[in-house]
Amino acid sequence: MTERTRVTIPYLREKKAQKKPIVMLTAYDFPCALLEDEVGIDIILCGDSLGNTVYGFSGTTQVTMDLMIPHTAAVKRAAPHSFVIGDMPFMSYQPSDETAIRNAGRFLQEAGCDAVKLEGGEEMAERVRAISRAGIAVQGHLGLTPQYVSALGGFKARGRDAAGALKLIRDARIIEEAGAFSIVLEAIPPEIGRIITERASIPIIGIGAGPYTDGQVLVIHDILGLLPGRKAKFVKQYCDLESQIRSALAAYKQDVESGGYPAAEHCYGIDPKVLETIESDLK
Ligand code: KIV
Repeated sequence: MTERTRVTIPYLREKKAQKKPIVMLTAYDFPCALLEDEVGIDIILCGDSLGNTVYGFSGTTQVTMDLMIPHTAAVKRAAPHSFVIGDMPFMSYQPSDETAIRNAGRFLQEAGCDAVKLEGGEEMAERVRAISRAGIAVQGHLGLTPQYVSALGGFKARGRDAAGALKLIRDARIIEEAGAFSIVLEAIPPEIGRIITERASIPIIGIGAGPYTDGQVLVIHDILGLLPGRKAKFVKQYCDLESQIRSALAAYKQDVESGGYPAAEHCYGIDPKVLETIESDLK
């Protein structure tokens, strides 16, 4: 983008057609979304990964709509150009089509976002169809789907055996036919990512799905090095904010304890005559 245009679904489709990589990244708050929009991130996902990155939960199943909405709204307020997606949390769409439409609608009405994302293949196709028929753009999410990680037996790559890969390829087709405008593929072999991307007419975004997808998505805390602990194999870290923040915190503590902060430039002035009046009044 030379001119700052607003990212739309036709714009994303055009990028796929022209084989220009789509850049997607998570954000959960105003300051990060402001910077992501400024540097031209195409899609900002307010992911339910905020359960891990912001709230310190062990997974994403504890995340609720009431947690997601204010974060997504803050992200949208900061990002007038990027395409903002709200991630539908566990149990906000699984129970019924009506629940799914109502909660997808909340993301648009209360958070102002452009689309929603939900996890699951064939078994969630009805929900994708219901949401898109209600006029709400919906992105699918296949492969390693963190909301079902317990049922799936852990955080492992998917589609590494023939049956698993064929199911993924079939699921991608079904989710596209159900009306999804895009699909995220997580933690699958690059070759399977390539097959799905080539067969799809909608943008396919990978996270640990190799280089052949139409775009890439990562979690912002991972690329900034902001969260301690083990990282997934697909993570690339671009800076070490954790140690920078630690040094800044230690320096602030040291400054306050030693009297180095506040200095004169951090203090508000007062007219000496006003001070004199105050002091004589107090005598
Ligand atoms: O919640 C999230 O951050 C996601 C991405 C990993 C795609 O779903």
